[in-house]
Amino acid sequence: MATSHAAVWQRATVLDTTALTDDIRRIVLAPDHPATVDAGAHIDVRVPIGGVPDRRSYSVVDDGPDGRSLAISVLDSPRSRGGARAMHALRPGDTIEITQPIVDFPLRVGAAHYVLLAGGIGITAVMGMARVLRSVRADYTLVYAGRSRPALAYLEQLQSAHGDRLRLHISDEDTPLDVTELVGGVEPGTELYLCGPIRLMDAVRRAWIERELPYPDLRFETFGNSGWFAPEDFVVRIPRIGAEVTVRATETMLEALEAAEVDLMFDCRKGECGLCEVRVLDLDGDIDHRDVFYSERQKDSRGAMCCCVSRAVAPPGGTAVVTIDIS
Ligand code: FES
Repeated sequence: MATSHAAVWQRATVLDTTALTDDIRRIVLAPDHPATVDAGAHIDVRVPIGGVPDRRSYSVVDDGPDGRSLAISVLDSPRSRGGARAMHALRPGDTIEITQPIVDFPLRVGAAHYVLLAGGIGITAVMGMARVLRSVRADYTLVYAGRSRPALAYLEQLQSAHGDRLRLHISDEDTPLDVTELVGGVEPGTELYLCGPIRLMDAVRRAWIERELPYPDLRFETFGNSGWFAPEDFVVRIPRIGAEVTVRATETMLEALEAAEVDLMFDCRKGECGLCEVRVLDLDGDIDHRDVFYSERQKDSRGAMCCCVSRAVAPPGGTAVVTIDIS
């Protein structure tokens, strides 16, 4: 049985597309059915990859009056599975299919203090929150980390909107983010909202748990799109149903299993809910856990994986093979 978000799909027309950095483009869309956009909202997009529509999630960065237009920003990196390239190729007048704005990463107004933490393109998930917190005069800090100043999308806009509340950490200026220091300095009553690469999320989660801060006050937006290793092809065996499936570097394990008509449960497709869990019976290689569902101990045991985002990684000179069972 498969479950999925009950998304409402609609057509949207591309109004504008602009390069923000060498690898990030801002794309402004006019949806056929405008709706209000809350902070933390994203849209899912059906992106044609090799002629086949695939689903990608992008945060809504800002929106026009009554949601008549909304902007997303798309990073095309060497690790992109093809969706970003297709999005970068969009031009004004093109149409695509999108969902109504979905809020899986809501901002809870009313906390004593806030830290909004963005790594790279993760800024797109927290910009709207920063705007809301500024407008309600909340006590917030927006922490933006990246490799270089030219790689930081929306930098000038954020500097002028948030002034001293914006804290930059830039690796090639020797001001990298020290997660232990950041979490160590968090005041009681702080909620931290985070979107960034898996390494950053993992480090923050560890530091947060170590400081024994309330776990519900740490909130993630993941999109399940970054891992510890570059994606590569690997093989999945399912002895119980006699199946062997190759997962290409450009697809997720869940997508490959769906294409092979293996029946699986799933919901978020972002490594958050754990519904797509498969039990690992045998492993030649290692697992690149890309979820935020399992604890560190569960990940280290290599006994299961969230197949919507996590992947197998090859042993030296070989191809990874993961043997699984499904519920
Ligand atoms: S479907 Fe939610 S973790 Fe995979």
